Amino acid sequence: MAQEYRLSNYFKMISEKMAHWYLLNKRDLPWRNSQNPYHIWLSEIILQQTRVAQGMPYYLNFIKQYPTVQSLALAPEEEVLRLWQGLGYYSRARNLHKTAQFVSQNLDGIFPQKYQDLLKLKGVGTYTAAAIASFAYNEKVAVLDGNVFRVLARIFGIDTDIASNDGKKQFTELASLLLPRQNAQTHNQAIMEFGALQCTPQKPVCTNCPLADICIAKQENLQGVLPVKINKTKIKNRYLNYFLIECDDKILMRKRTHDDIWAGLYEPFLIETENEHSPEILSESVFLKQISKNGLIISVSETIKHILTHRRILAKFWHIKTDDITNIPPDYRFYTKSEIDNLPKPILIANYFHEPV
Ligand code: ADE
Repeated sequence: MAQEYRLSNYFKMISEKMAHWYLLNKRDLPWRNSQNPYHIWLSEIILQQTRVAQGMPYYLNFIKQYPTVQSLALAPEEEVLRLWQGLGYYSRARNLHKTAQFVSQNLDGIFPQKYQDLLKLKGVGTYTAAAIASFAYNEKVAVLDGNVFRVLARIFGIDTDIASNDGKKQFTELASLLLPRQNAQTHNQAIMEFGALQCTPQKPVCTNCPLADICIAKQENLQGVLPVKINKTKIKNRYLNYFLIECDDKILMRKRTHDDIWAGLYEPFLIETENEHSPEILSESVFLKQISKNGLIISVSETIKHILTHRRILAKFWHIKTDDITNIPPDYRFYTKSEIDNLPKPILIANYFHEPV
């Protein structure tokens, strides 16, 4: 009993130091001035796998374009994807839209208030549900994101793999123990901000850290080792050969529909190959016979590398002009350049069209 008491005091001391640090050091971020669950949900979906500096303009654009969950629900999916263009992980935008429709149509536009109910929403996992429940409703539930894993692994000197089930369980328990009885909201914001600004992945600022005297990683010089994350996913190369087939100032494009990268986004005529082919092979044997007999190659790009989480994309663009289309492949059609401007596209393709991001 006595030991339990001391342990809870120890956790309380850590949480209080972090909350104090937060009051002095927190960034003024727009979603922090809001208790509106719509704003908080939107910000958290945007900030998954995205840095604050990159996500901020998207958040502001979304709030401006769709001030309420109802207005987002009523927007066409393509418009939502176009506004998301450049953020990557497009399933986030598709789920965002579906969830807005669900909340708007099935819940009278009112977000669930409890962690367990928030978890039922599409695209809302344990982290996001905890963030909304605590930030909007002050529910006593701990957030666990990359920042929190790092802070806890270092302070307590834990070397369990954070990607493993054991690791998730252990860190979830510890994060919950650290939650104060009141003010889950401030505590959660504080520990995440502490990880983002003070206890950073590289070169953490240990010299002026309020927890330096109790931090195991600092004492044992393990900041570079903790947290441990064992990455098991293998990166696979994909070779995408894009043909910009231009006829009468229009370009052949299609919407990607399959359950794959970039579903719902548009792309020019694509031939995917197992490895890097020479332009001659592609243009003569495949492309020309399929679509046009008199296509003229105007330019061929360098191979452009684009890294996704589990894929290395190696893309090449052939710009081809023709006035003789013999066959339009299924799902493709010709779009004018201003129509293409408004289509949601992978950033790799938007860049090729020199679209401002
Ligand atoms: N990253 C994810 N959620 C965040 C938030 N609410 N504030 C700052 N960074 C974040």
